[in-house]
Amino acid sequence: MNSNIQNGKGSSKITLKKITSINLETILNLKVKPKQRTLVAPNAVSIAQAQFTRGAWYRAICLDKEPIGFVMLRDSTLKFKKINPKNPEIYLWRFMIDGRYQGKGYGKKALELVIHHAQSRSGIKEITLHHQPSKGNAGNFYKKLGFKHTGKIHLGELEMKLKLD
Ligand SMILES: CC(C)(COP(=O)(O)OP(=O)(O)OC[C@H]1O[C@@H](n2cnc3c(N)ncnc32)[C@H](O)[C@@H]1OP(=O)(O)O)[C@@H](O)C(=O)NCCC(=O)NCCS
Repeated sequence: MNSNIQNGKGSSKITLKKITSINLETILNLKVKPKQRTLVAPNAVSIAQAQFTRGAWYRAICLDKEPIGFVMLRDSTLKFKKINPKNPEIYLWRFMIDGRYQGKGYGKKALELVIHHAQSRSGIKEITLHHQPSKGNAGNFYKKLGFKHTGKIHLGELEMKLKLD
């Protein structure tokens, strides 16, 4: 899964890569900007939660070979090996780009890849997420990718959905 980015040095590629013993430490060390720390859990917490959550799907967001971010979904189609759930759902649980790499279009490219991945999952018609209402929240970032607020609030967080074709 990859997406090209043009920059002054030529073409760089954003990819979603599996987490391995080789890239794990780099991913654990990725951090959002200090003011954003209340907006998303540390990657170590997310990766630990994934071990105890059926249907968790997580990847490193890489710029060429370098991990620069992290994404985690809950995908109900992965919960059971053989039985297809009645209402398959994809929930965007975690999404972050390290502070050093923000504002360069990488988050947008990575989210496009996540959307493409969701479109490839059988029966998935939408992606749901919740974001914090506090200053600097990612709501407008998601809006640029087509997500819309539903008006629902879940545990103090605003719900957004993206309808898939
Ligand atoms: C939100 C986040 C993933 C965006 O990543 P990024 O790589 O900086 O985003 P991009 O550079 O690809 O930005 C794409 C567009 O969204 C806009 N944008 C980015 N972050 C934004 C924010 N927090 N609020 C509003 N707009 C934002 C950019 O200005 C850009 O607009 P343009 O296409 O008109 O130029 C990143 O800021 C981040 O990790 N934030 C902290 C963690 C977080 O809030 N995660 C979401 C939890 S729900």
